[in-house]
Amino acid sequence: MNFDLTSDQKMLQDQVRKFAQTELAPLAPEIDKSGEFPWPSLKKMAKLGLLGVIVPEKYGGSGFDFVSLAIAIEEISRACASTGVIVAVNNSLTTYPILEFSSEELKKKYLPQLCSGEKIGAFGLTEPNAGSDVAAMESTARLEGDHYIVNGTKRFITNGGEAGIYVVFAYTNRDLKHKGISAFVVERDTPGFSVGKHEDLMGIRATANCELMFEDVKVPKENLLGKEGDGFKICMNTLDVSRIDIGAQAVGIAQAALDEAVRYSKERKAFGQPICNFEMIEALIAEMATEIQAARLLVHYAGFCKDKGMQKFSKEAAMSKYYASDIAVDVTRKAVQIHGGYGYSKEYAVERLYRDAKILELYEGTSEIQKIVIARELTR
Ligand code: CAA
Repeated sequence: MNFDLTSDQKMLQDQVRKFAQTELAPLAPEIDKSGEFPWPSLKKMAKLGLLGVIVPEKYGGSGFDFVSLAIAIEEISRACASTGVIVAVNNSLTTYPILEFSSEELKKKYLPQLCSGEKIGAFGLTEPNAGSDVAAMESTARLEGDHYIVNGTKRFITNGGEAGIYVVFAYTNRDLKHKGISAFVVERDTPGFSVGKHEDLMGIRATANCELMFEDVKVPKENLLGKEGDGFKICMNTLDVSRIDIGAQAVGIAQAALDEAVRYSKERKAFGQPICNFEMIEALIAEMATEIQAARLLVHYAGFCKDKGMQKFSKEAAMSKYYASDIAVDVTRKAVQIHGGYGYSKEYAVERLYRDAKILELYEGTSEIQKIVIARELTR
């Protein structure tokens, strides 16, 4: 058993940490306020290979493993939660399903664009009436000659407003229930596709979270991922991978909150001494640090399961996502508590981190869904 990162993973961690702390952290409060999608930062990250971390070099990626991807997402999210999820969606919700389930032609066509930052990716799954219950989706795709005609509406799509390439799910045969869902790659400039309402979110405010509309969108039939009816399994398999990265995002946000809390507790004086000397503050800091370490180990273990080729790692991914999200909300709340009234002010980073953390328990499967996945693995 070895808890050390490999030399490649360590190198990546150092490089991303340095970049994220110098380039991303100073912009985080600004883009939280303005909601501006961080294109300039993404272009820089593309040059560092961070938009195609797990994509082989022959398609323009960096060819790292899944633990490395989690390490990169943690460091990016520690500096800026919005940028963290934008990059996670591009990597695990867009490049991954294309890499895993598309033809060689589609890989050659789309992966280099997603790795170079020429275009960013998004995952069109959630709908106004279908969140946790994926099979309740209403979007349809019917084959007409060489094209599928896609109709429907997607909601709460991270990167939605700025993406150029979308992985989209729709029913090709409703009678077959979840076995009738198919997955497609859809390009933004296809006639009939449009971006709808921009969501005014509580946190991760720079993620261009938008509604997507499909009105008779003609998608070439070769843009189908896998076979007709493979969509549900492609979706679940992809979410298994991406949940590890949301776990990593949670660890990054929580680590940032701990960093802030430790710094503040050493500077802030009360009753004639720094508040870090008080046992109740010490207890909070000890709890936060322990929770973060436990979550990080769960995340790395889930990535390790994927890297070693385990066929099914849904439970490990769900555990990492559920636990890391849970502690991120707790750790950021404690960080606000340590800051006292200042923690409730937008002048201090912990206010933003607390807002950013809440989404972790909601997207890519709520915490309740993660518990269902874990329990079903144990009971079925
Ligand atoms: N891998 C492969 N196959 C899987 C699987 C997995 N992880 N999980 C389930 N399946 C298969 C099952 O084996 C079953 O196969 P058969 O039909 O051959 O028997 C089939 O899929 C149906 O499985 P279930 O009966 O378990 O399906 P369900 O309808 O009960 O749903 C669920 C299960 C876990 C609740 C699932 O619907 C789910 O994960 N929901 C949450 C959706 C979600 O995470 N949305 C996130 C949106 S994306 C996002 O948030 C992005 C963003 O903004 C950043």
